[in-house]
Amino acid sequence: MTTSHFIVSPGATLRGHLQVPGDKSISHRAIMLGALADGVTRIGGFLEGEDCLATLQAFRAMGVAIEGPQDGGIVIQGVGLHGLQAPRQPLYMGNSGTSMRLLAGLLAGQTFASVLSGDASLNRRPMKRVTEPLSRMGARIATTLAGTAPLQIQGNPALQGIDYTLPVASAQVKSCLLLAGLYAQGRTCVTEPAPTRDHTERMLVGFGYPLERQQQRVCLHGGGHLRACTLEIPADISSAAFFLVGASIAPHADIVLENVGVNPTRAGVITLLRQMGADITLLNERQAGGEPVANIRVCSAPLRGIRIPTELVPLAIDEFPALFIAAACARGETVLTGAEELRVKESDRIQVMADGLQTLGIAARPTPDGMIISGGTLTGGVIDSQGDHRIAMAFAMAALRAQGTLRIQDCANVNTSFPGFVELARDAGLTIESVPS
Ligand code: S3P
Repeated sequence: MTTSHFIVSPGATLRGHLQVPGDKSISHRAIMLGALADGVTRIGGFLEGEDCLATLQAFRAMGVAIEGPQDGGIVIQGVGLHGLQAPRQPLYMGNSGTSMRLLAGLLAGQTFASVLSGDASLNRRPMKRVTEPLSRMGARIATTLAGTAPLQIQGNPALQGIDYTLPVASAQVKSCLLLAGLYAQGRTCVTEPAPTRDHTERMLVGFGYPLERQQQRVCLHGGGHLRACTLEIPADISSAAFFLVGASIAPHADIVLENVGVNPTRAGVITLLRQMGADITLLNERQAGGEPVANIRVCSAPLRGIRIPTELVPLAIDEFPALFIAAACARGETVLTGAEELRVKESDRIQVMADGLQTLGIAARPTPDGMIISGGTLTGGVIDSQGDHRIAMAFAMAALRAQGTLRIQDCANVNTSFPGFVELARDAGLTIESVPS
């Protein structure tokens, strides 16, 4: 695999109007529901990152005709809930946990067998959290002895609905079970211990599928139909997060991020940065494709350390690499607890971020379920991102407040979620180069 590293110089700032790419979570779901709908679904704003392209390829491999992506546009000839064909080869999900966990649910109820595999990072991530409840529905799925991918799925068209309470707050597990529930007899209900992103629920409604929602419980009946629709995907708040932090910590920064999804189940990063003293304004708040959207203005502001409320953790779960950089630049101490899930993301984000911050001279103490960071002065240095896209981009922003150059290693996976990151960051003012390694 070709890889690259970033070289980011200190002393820059961020200014101007920026458009970050489409939302990753919503892009995956749009392909899945569009493929399973009756009729032609047209999607705009699709994220052409490697993770979502893995989902797209999987459906092509199961006989779905998909045109594009071209400039974020995709046209899907839906085959209906029972129209998928057996893939000839294992489906390769690359680095994408969302593709693997959601597809596991959807494939569990098919009439054919399939295999899901991923790259080294994905093949290390826990899959029992989906295979265990799926097996209670009657699914036949084998993992490795370690409970990881590759997943060997037999396919069982006679799944039974279940009433399941998630042991961890996970939108991927919730979505996996709802997708399996489309194929199950009777009712499938999922209760979550804390709210997590609800894009699957919103999109099922958008595709005309009846859903019952009460607080933290969602139920659906199998055997319905999805109706094709037209969908505009907003920009990804998880990608915008790097610029929210970058513009907060850089001197004299002033940016507007356009058309960003601000669904309350995703917007924890805005709440937390505001608690730290960030200057963030939502402009032109509106609804698009069943999701709340806004332009976001961010100006430099002095940040202070906070104790992060645990109930906000799932609402900002992907934004902690960026938030740790904000904490490193804040006055005082930031304390995160209740975030053990960060240890099983694309990398162990608690350990890898703590190592990187310590390299830059910041007192960052990892704990089993979080981190304690004392804000300070960042030096330059060499950071190993461990192939984690969000860690690479978070440290790129740290250079805005560092005293020396940052060299960030193993950055090719930035393309999984944010193709064009280097160019956009450079347009906004960051002095960043991507160099093949
Ligand atoms: C996602 C859910 C979250 C998140 C991931 C995308 C989704 O994972 O970290 O990047 O699209 O449903 P968990 O469900 O494991 O928390």
